Amino acid sequence: VKVLWNDQFVQEEDVKIGFEDRGYQFGDGIYEVIKIYNGDMFTAKEHIDRLYASADKIQLVIPYTKDVMHKMLHELIEMNELQDGQVYLQVTRGTSMRQHNFPVPAVESVLTAYTKETTRPHTQLENGVKACFVEDVRWLRCDIKSLNLLGNVLAKQEAVSKDCYEAVLHRGETITEGSSSNMYGIKDGVLYTHPVSNLMLNGITRQVILNCCEEVGLPVVEEAFTKAQALEMDEMIMSSTNAEVMPIISIDDKIIGTGKRGEWAEKLQLAFEKRIP
Ligand code: PDD
Repeated sequence: VKVLWNDQFVQEEDVKIGFEDRGYQFGDGIYEVIKIYNGDMFTAKEHIDRLYASADKIQLVIPYTKDVMHKMLHELIEMNELQDGQVYLQVTRGTSMRQHNFPVPAVESVLTAYTKETTRPHTQLENGVKACFVEDVRWLRCDIKSLNLLGNVLAKQEAVSKDCYEAVLHRGETITEGSSSNMYGIKDGVLYTHPVSNLMLNGITRQVILNCCEEVGLPVVEEAFTKAQALEMDEMIMSSTNAEVMPIISIDDKIIGTGKRGEWAEKLQLAFEKRIP
């Protein structure tokens, strides 16, 4: 199994990451997780576009065109004969003497990518998962898919310690997203989700789901909702590259709707599956 290190396909043992890599020291970099179904990257263009958009937002220069990036990832997946799983890729601002400001002169960024076999979370997709509220204490640029994930890590850990699958993050009363997912509530045949803003990551799965809503005839309102409203929803759903369209059956042990996967969740799951190559 090979990994991608800058533009080289090498064994993982042969990768040398600098002690003063800015990703390692500052979390100064960006990343993506792309799902692979049947040997093919799902929504690769959208993920690569978002990677370059994140790079732009932190003034990081990726020294490859999007096309070359796509080709290298594709080659890595073929080389590793990966059928079902994911590719993780990150780009850091490079290695330079530790100082907070950008290196002068600028140094080359460091790209690493590797593939991993994973299976779809079939059981959870069918039965739904438990969640809990966690205060969103992250910074104000959650639209950047940055390597700085401490806020997300601590929120997820709190959820897992409470035997939950995900943390429902809220700023004050308002729900923003999950620790590694987007959040949706469905009430009286309307789907609500936080509008695209600096307070959340515009998930690629979110974009696919909003498209699925049109197909299944579920009107979408991109408006934030509160913790109290979440508990009153007929259905709650979360989404991410790995979790796909995941029903949430309780928050803080309070049952949502019927306490089972809802009708809309199932319809959206079916519409989502049709889009899998
Ligand atoms: N996380 N919001 C946050 C904070 C996320 O970290 C993610 C994804 C999403 C959903 O985005 P998408 O649908 O593009 O996967 C929303 C990835 C998968 C991760 O960190 O592993």
